[in-house]
Amino acid sequence: MFLGSKRKRLLFWQSAVRFGAVLLGWMAWSLTASAQDSGEMRPVADMFQPLSRPAEMIHSSALLVLAICAGIFVVVTGMLVYVVWKFRHKGGEDDLKEPPQIYGSTHIELAWTVVPILITFVLILVTSRTIGEIQNAKMPADALQVRVVGHQWWWEVQYPGEGIVTANEIHVPVSSRDGKRGSRPTELILESADVIHSFWVPQLAGKTDLVPNKRNKMWIEPFKTGTFFGNCAEYCGTQHANMLLRVIVHEPEDYARWVKEMKQPPVAPTSELAIQGHKDFFANSCINCHKVDGTVAEGVFGPDLTKLMTRQTIGAGVAPLTPETLRAWVRDPQTLKIGCLMPDMKLHDSEVDSITAYLLTLK
Ligand code: CUA
Repeated sequence: MFLGSKRKRLLFWQSAVRFGAVLLGWMAWSLTASAQDSGEMRPVADMFQPLSRPAEMIHSSALLVLAICAGIFVVVTGMLVYVVWKFRHKGGEDDLKEPPQIYGSTHIELAWTVVPILITFVLILVTSRTIGEIQNAKMPADALQVRVVGHQWWWEVQYPGEGIVTANEIHVPVSSRDGKRGSRPTELILESADVIHSFWVPQLAGKTDLVPNKRNKMWIEPFKTGTFFGNCAEYCGTQHANMLLRVIVHEPEDYARWVKEMKQPPVAPTSELAIQGHKDFFANSCINCHKVDGTVAEGVFGPDLTKLMTRQTIGAGVAPLTPETLRAWVRDPQTLKIGCLMPDMKLHDSEVDSITAYLLTLK
């Protein structure tokens, strides 16, 4: 059965009201979300809440681009709705005559050629100016340099100046927006060990690809402390979605403390189980892929484990790093991260326990 036209109209207005309510709710949520920026964890990967200089520059030009596009949307949709309404079927006999055909109108053709060219030109100028300002920004001499190497599916993080290597987490000092409390931007040198990846922490900066045999650069200058969430933004294989990363922004003193802690040489294990685990770790093929400073473990295919327990997550963000998830990973990484390049090592239960105990001492 066909619905009556009254019922149809009612349904239309009901869905319109519902859609409007959802839209308003979302806007209210995003406004309050941006108001509560005192939190230490910033898991909302929202580019509309920039907290770093390059992200703010992109944000302001994106708003202008959005406003122009919204204007076009309103004009085009408005004309469409008007025409659909004005020439709707009005009931009764249809006039089946062909409407008058009009060819060529210099005024209209000029309007729809010149106006879009002008709009496009404005968009080109706005975006290229922002891109230029970000890419040509001069880094101060004391800028922190961090080398980030993309791997399937994790991030290698090196601090050449400090001699620190870690993974999936980048610790940097905070800057102040007005530069009064000092500013120390971080320059990121991006490389890849295998395929193309893309570095993206939406609240800190735009995306930049990590391309094999090429060195790309970008920078961040966060204004707030806390943990910012990011991810790989270029499909790079099975576990692309689990190639997560965190940028942890500290007060300068806390950052200095972190550097000092990371430079402490590893402490030899003391418990019996961990000492056994140390032996088992070196007796198995763990050392072919992993590195532990000050030992013969010099592998470079997997993450450096020297300061493993300082990290928040395991498997580039698949799970929080706890003794339980660490044990599950040593048992068989494929249960946590299917397709990851670390195979099930088929360890005995006793080895799983001992190696986990040893790894827990790496901090
Ligand atoms: Cu790396 Cu997607």
